[in-house]
Formats: sequence, C-alpha cells, structure tokens
Amino acid sequence: MSVLLLNASPKNNGATQEIIKIIQSQLPSNTVSEIVCLGDLTINYCVGDKSCYETCTCILNDDMASLLKKMNDADTLVIAAPSYWADVPGQFKVFIDRCTAYSNTNPNLAHKKFKSGKKCYAIALRAGTRPIECEHIIQTIEHWCDHMEIAMAGSMYFCSINNKNDIDNLKDSILEKSREWFK
Ligand SMILES: Cc1cc2nc3c(=O)[nH]c(=O)nc-3n(C[C@H](O)[C@H](O)[C@H](O)COP(=O)(O)O)c2cc1C
Repeated sequence: MSVLLLNASPKNNGATQEIIKIIQSQLPSNTVSEIVCLGDLTINYCVGDKSCYETCTCILNDDMASLLKKMNDADTLVIAAPSYWADVPGQFKVFIDRCTAYSNTNPNLAHKKFKSGKKCYAIALRAGTRPIECEHIIQTIEHWCDHMEIAMAGSMYFCSINNKNDIDNLKDSILEKSREWFK
C-alpha cells in the first residue's frame, strides 16, 4: 500500500504536521508513505486560462505536476487542513484550482483521471471551539474528492488547537482513529 499524506497548511512544523506525523507513525509495516507540505512547494495561482478544458494540461510549469503524479501513484491520500479565516488556507485553495484538468465538473468536457480505486481521508483543525469551521473544511475536501472521482473514506477534526503542543493530548485518539482507517 502507498499513502501520500498532504499537509495543506503553509507550515511544515505546526499542528497539522504533528497530526500527519502521528498518522504516518502507525501505518502498517508494508506501507510506503510520504508527507508533503504545500508550504514547501511552489504552486502558482490558477490564471483562469481554461485551455485545460480542451487539452487536459495546465499551462503553468511548477511543482503541481510532480504533486499530482505522487497523488496518482498513491493508493490512499490523507489530507489535513487547518482553518484559516474559517476556510482552507490559501495554498490549499490554489492547489484545488490547479486540479481543474482532472475535474469531472463539466460532463461535456474531457478530463484527466487518477488511477481508479483511490481513497481519501480528511482531517480538519482549528483554534476556535465550535466544530462548524472544521465541518466546512471537511466538506471542501469531500467536494474536491467528488470531482476528482476519489472515494472519501473517513474524516476527523479537532477544535481548540492553537499550536502543535495541543496535539499531545490527542495523540491516543488520533492513533485509534487512524488504526481503524488502515487496519
Ligand atoms: C492566518 C490564520 C488564520 C486563522 N484563522 C482561523 C479561524 O478563522 N478560525 C480558527 O478556529 N482558527 C484559525 N486559525 C488558527 C489555526 O487554525 C490553528 O492555529 C491551527 O492549529 C494552525 O495549524 P498549523 O500550525 O498547522 O498551520 C488561523 C491561523 C492563522 C495563521
């Protein structure tokens, strides 16, 4: 099994990365896994050119192509995103925009496809106490999965997370949930 864990925060050493590292630590021994943080990549804004509607190829040349290849190669994706202004961080929204060549949004247009059978698990976290922002982020990831024809297989979210130290108390529940996911 191969698992790509995407940290959709711009930060590769924050609370999101901590959650992702805990999940990676308990993956079955025969798993090949890699953590990728969007903040470590150069992914430029979609410029709305729309030629990808016809060509199924993006005109921009940056780290997006290699990220999409890694995602295609993986059997399972784990995507974790913190709330920034009650929504996904800008880097993650840019990533989603740049997936348009793969999107089945318009049934009359051709699109690229990931290999079939891919699953995705979604994780959201926020500093505030109410779940609603986390639920919105999970829905955003689910929406992306729908249009990429990836099965959304599960989710978890965490409120009251201000920094990575807040993850210490959650380690057991993260491990328990991810063991369920990858049993
Ligand atoms: C620019 C910015 C905006 C944020 N906006 C929100 C918000 O609207 N609601 C919230 O609950 N937390 C918000 N937070 C807090 C983050 O969700 C929280 O600190 C999270 O743990 C950050 O994860 P990270 O360190 O992996 O990026 C914001 C943080 C930043 C940096």
